[in-house]
Amino acid sequence: MNLLTGLLIVFLAAIVVAGTSISWTWLIGTGWEPAPNPVVIKMLSLAGVREDDIVYDLGSGDGRVLVKAVRDFGAKAVGIEADPIRWFLTWLNIRRARIGAAKVIWGNFFKTNLSEASVVVIFLSRGTNRRLRSKFLRELSPGTRIVSYFWPIDGWESQQTDPQSKIYIYRVPDSRTSDLLNK
Ligand SMILES: C[S@@+](CC[C@H](N)C(=O)[O-])C[C@H]1O[C@@H](n2cnc3c(N)ncnc32)[C@H](O)[C@@H]1O
Repeated sequence: MNLLTGLLIVFLAAIVVAGTSISWTWLIGTGWEPAPNPVVIKMLSLAGVREDDIVYDLGSGDGRVLVKAVRDFGAKAVGIEADPIRWFLTWLNIRRARIGAAKVIWGNFFKTNLSEASVVVIFLSRGTNRRLRSKFLRELSPGTRIVSYFWPIDGWESQQTDPQSKIYIYRVPDSRTSDLLNK
């Protein structure tokens, strides 16, 4: 094998690894696509994020939501990311931004307890939002804000929407008095 063939193999392997990394999480949630930066700012503004908030980003991608929540809104932020390459990107971007109030967990958000969140950010898929509803009702305190980009949460009434930016804001109802658990 000459040098050119070796380089070609490394290059093709890198493409396969990167492509797989973007898409395999469809199996457990959704694939990777970053929310546009202006949308991230709008989501956090509409959710009224403040210094005393703990913002969870379910599927943190490159970490942009965490960095903005801490740097621009003064909140604490936690990302959960299943894909090792995206997890590393989030970790790297948190380090580069020098923000101690953000951390990222490598794992599946369906298996991670969300109860300390006061704001949950999601940019996932319609089906994944639907699957998350009962977890939200079980684990999140009533009043916790959920901000979804692009997809609504079917069956839940949003408190506020920005149709142009496709942002939906919800407040977790009291699961003891809500019939949403049965939907
Ligand atoms: C559409 S991207 C959104 C990224 C980021 N939140 C943003 O708004 O830019 C969805 C991310 O969720 C991750 N993901 C999908 N299912 C997951 C799961 N069950 N647990 C953890 N991460 C997941 C994907 O790897 C991907 O990085």
